[in-house]
Amino acid sequence: MNITYNDERKDLPADQLHELFVSVGWSPDGALPDEWRKGFMQPWRNSTLVVSAWDGDRLAGAVRVLSDTIFRSVIYDLLVSPAYRGQGIGKGLVNRCKAHFPNSEWLVGCDKKNSEFYKKLGFREILKTGEFLVIPCKLF
Ligand SMILES: CC(C)(COP(=O)(O)OP(=O)(O)OC[C@H]1O[C@@H](n2cnc3c(N)ncnc32)[C@H](O)[C@@H]1OP(=O)(O)O)[C@@H](O)C(=O)NCCC(=O)NCCS
Repeated sequence: MNITYNDERKDLPADQLHELFVSVGWSPDGALPDEWRKGFMQPWRNSTLVVSAWDGDRLAGAVRVLSDTIFRSVIYDLLVSPAYRGQGIGKGLVNRCKAHFPNSEWLVGCDKKNSEFYKKLGFREILKTGEFLVIPCKLF
């Protein structure tokens, strides 16, 4: 499978992105209602960075980042389609985010079941609950 990554496009195809949200249970089943479309895409358009993973023109995964681009960055909405998991795409998405702001602190909130995934990428738990993880800023 030839997966390509895009670090520039924020305006992802809303219907494919919504399908990803449905596939992980973050949106209810069914098509994206027209009245939700603008609000659904706004967080992505307004993020500092969006990285997406593509199998041809099929969206296989995506992640977005809010960052001051130097000191503090937060990861949101990391999603890999169930059909594409276990092939390094989640890792590829997060590592591309980190490469954009290499000295930054990185913060992520996640379900406890995913904390081991982030630990493999250099994050450390802040709380014993394992739901918030951090990579410290390299500048101070
Ligand atoms: C979590 C998620 C993004 C992982 O994506 P993925 O593409 O399957 O992950 P990768 O293939 O890149 O895995 C990278 C490494 O982490 C490991 N890994 C992946 N998910 C893991 C998990 N939940 N727990 C522990 N290890 C995990 C892999 O085995 C792999 O290990 P390796 O480098 O030693 O081979 C994906 O399962 C997903 O989209 N889940 C639903 C949405 C979600 O919960 N997102 C996280 C929000 S914070």
